Amino acid sequence: MTTYPPISEQLSAADLESAREEGRRKMEWAAQHMPIMAAIRGEFEAERPLEGDRIAMAMHVEAKTAILVEVLADGGAEVAITGCNPLSTHDDVSAALDTHENITSYARRGVDDEAYYEAIHATLDLEPTITVDDGMDLVAAIHEDYPELIDGIVGGAEETTTGVHRLRAMDDDDALEYPVFAVNDTPMKRLFDNVHGTGESSLASIAMTTNLSWASKNVVVAGFGYCGKGVARKAAGQNANVIVTEVEPRRALEAHMEGYDVMPMAEAAVRGDVFITTTGNRDVIVEEHFEVMQDGVLLANAGHFDIEIDLDGLEELAVDTYEARDGVQAYELEDGRRLNVIAEGRLVNLAAPISLGHPVEVMDQSFGVQAACVRELVDNGDAYDAGVHDVPDDLDREIAEIKLEAEGVTFDDLTETQHEYMGSWDHGT
Ligand SMILES: NC(=O)c1ccc[n+]([C@@H]2O[C@H](COP(=O)([O-])OP(=O)(O)OC[C@H]3O[C@@H](n4cnc5c(N)ncnc54)[C@H](O)[C@@H]3O)[C@@H](O)[C@H]2O)c1
Repeated sequence: MTTYPPISEQLSAADLESAREEGRRKMEWAAQHMPIMAAIRGEFEAERPLEGDRIAMAMHVEAKTAILVEVLADGGAEVAITGCNPLSTHDDVSAALDTHENITSYARRGVDDEAYYEAIHATLDLEPTITVDDGMDLVAAIHEDYPELIDGIVGGAEETTTGVHRLRAMDDDDALEYPVFAVNDTPMKRLFDNVHGTGESSLASIAMTTNLSWASKNVVVAGFGYCGKGVARKAAGQNANVIVTEVEPRRALEAHMEGYDVMPMAEAAVRGDVFITTTGNRDVIVEEHFEVMQDGVLLANAGHFDIEIDLDGLEELAVDTYEARDGVQAYELEDGRRLNVIAEGRLVNLAAPISLGHPVEVMDQSFGVQAACVRELVDNGDAYDAGVHDVPDDLDREIAEIKLEAEGVTFDDLTETQHEYMGSWDHGT
């Protein structure tokens, strides 16, 4: 048992009341734009499929996530949640969630590393039957510190690319001891959340935090995966000149064929005005790059962890550092050049002071898949062995169908002949 307090015990009574009210208002706005979660909430309230289950969650605690948490609780589960990044929590939303009788929220913005991990451990006091992670910190804590919980866990779900990478590495080492769905890898998540969500919200956060324009800027996008494609496309849409750096030849070629300039970071470093990393990898922008950058550049990261821009290296090079604006740290080098890091190199669309994360509609889809996965674990958990699992495709399709119906979009069905044709191998010329 830990003694880490939920947010309601961390705020003063006066702060708590106003925080709850503001958090509730944010959640109501989000809920109005989440038709998929509304449909699932209706089903869960009627059927209570999660009655008796206990769900530990480590996610970005803001209004959209809060709707997922409420829907799981309204489905009968007891839920304990904390953040998956020290800077992405909205305290008011965390406080509002903590008022629900089936929900305990430990999330608090700006906690140090020690408190961050204490809060992760606190969610495990619930002795979860299911885990929902964004980055795999919960799965890691369970396997490293609380292996005795594993027998009671039916399974888990993982939200992001980095978490799925870590889980697959764990699975390859035969170290993952319960089944986890790779929610990130479904079309309904990755084609919308990573591409459109990260693209729109990263650019919006950078623009609002700096009050600077995209038009005519040289924007260097490191990594041309799902997130990088979204960032590049939206930056080009705002009249920036986009430069892409990659390490994977087919993705570099794809970027080239899309019309972007492709070059190594060593060359891009000289030309860029704004740098946005989206690789999920470490040390993408390091000392040799800082040394050739122009005065006044902006450096931001949209990947999961704050390891893509080598801030320790930059700190060592700098003769002075100061807060140039709220959320912008300037590093002044010996020759007078200033390199500006946004949101401490943490994922910019959630950690910058003016950042709201992905658009609501996009998270409605991702969380629809999350809720469907939790239900699948409860209904059919025994069917899955320990390891990383693809989300069953019919669950993903169902989420798309709910969304299309809510948008009033109709589409074609395969005819019987087409169905038969697509499933056969003996129809040639
Ligand atoms: N900001 C957000 O809200 C958000 C949303 C979804 C995913 N993510 C995170 O963003 C990161 C990327 O996710 P994704 O789905 O785009 O992954 P992805 O695997 O599709 O793309 C990553 C790309 O980076 C490239 N890459 C790796 N190392 C590189 C290097 N040193 N230089 C240049 N390119 C390099 C890879 O070849 C790959 O093409 C992950 O950490 C993921 O968890 C963030």
